[in-house]
Amino acid sequence: MPQHPRPLKLAPSILTADFGRLAAAIQAADAGGADYIHLDVMDGRFVPNISFGPTIVRTVRDITAKPLDVHLMIEEPDRYLADFAAAGANLITVHAEACVHLHRTLQTVTELGCRAGVAINPATPVEMIREILPFVDMVLVMSVNPGFGSQRFIETTTNKLRRVCHLIEDLNPLCDLEVDGGVDVHNIDDVVRSGANVVVVGSAVFNDRATPGENLHALREAARGAQWQIA
Ligand code: DX5
Ligand code: ZN
Repeated sequence: MPQHPRPLKLAPSILTADFGRLAAAIQAADAGGADYIHLDVMDGRFVPNISFGPTIVRTVRDITAKPLDVHLMIEEPDRYLADFAAAGANLITVHAEACVHLHRTLQTVTELGCRAGVAINPATPVEMIREILPFVDMVLVMSVNPGFGSQRFIETTTNKLRRVCHLIEDLNPLCDLEVDGGVDVHNIDDVVRSGANVVVVGSAVFNDRATPGENLHALREAARGAQWQIA
């Protein structure tokens, strides 16, 4: 089978992992087939929760060689981009809603040697990313309101993914499309069919039901085949 232009990547979010055993959780996800490690940075301003900053990103950097996918849910991200790049981020995603000069912010991410992503909240229209699309490596479509793990997937996101996917095909065909929030074995097929190729999985990977490796395997199996049938 030929290589898909945007191959499927699973990006476990450590937000719902046991932070008392963070190293073990990351090693298990790494060995269990994670493509990226997704790191959710929250400031208590842009979102109503506080998580962690560059120090934890540095800690994770020392635990795994997998690319670190840093999702900044913070206001004024420009103030911290250099810190996250220095901490070992490979990909830095900022929210369109948090950036007055989005092009400049993403240019800074690129200049720091990282891949640049732009995220949009569930209520933000797809049109918001049209002008910036040629300048980004990834678009992140939120399928929950950001701030917490284990929330319910917002069903209208699949339609939104299709519309973003078409924009990507028109304006920047190699751009990745990431979906984040509430994805599990029951809906991963739908999101991949709708065009997402980077799938964030938090509580579906780090839970008491199975090991991260078993969960990642089940997710990959559930998505098998969907990538070639993008609607
Ligand atoms: C939400 C975060 C997500 C989330 C994923 O604000 O950006 O990465 O924690 O966790 P699940 O998969 O449990 O929704
Ligand atoms: Zn996230």
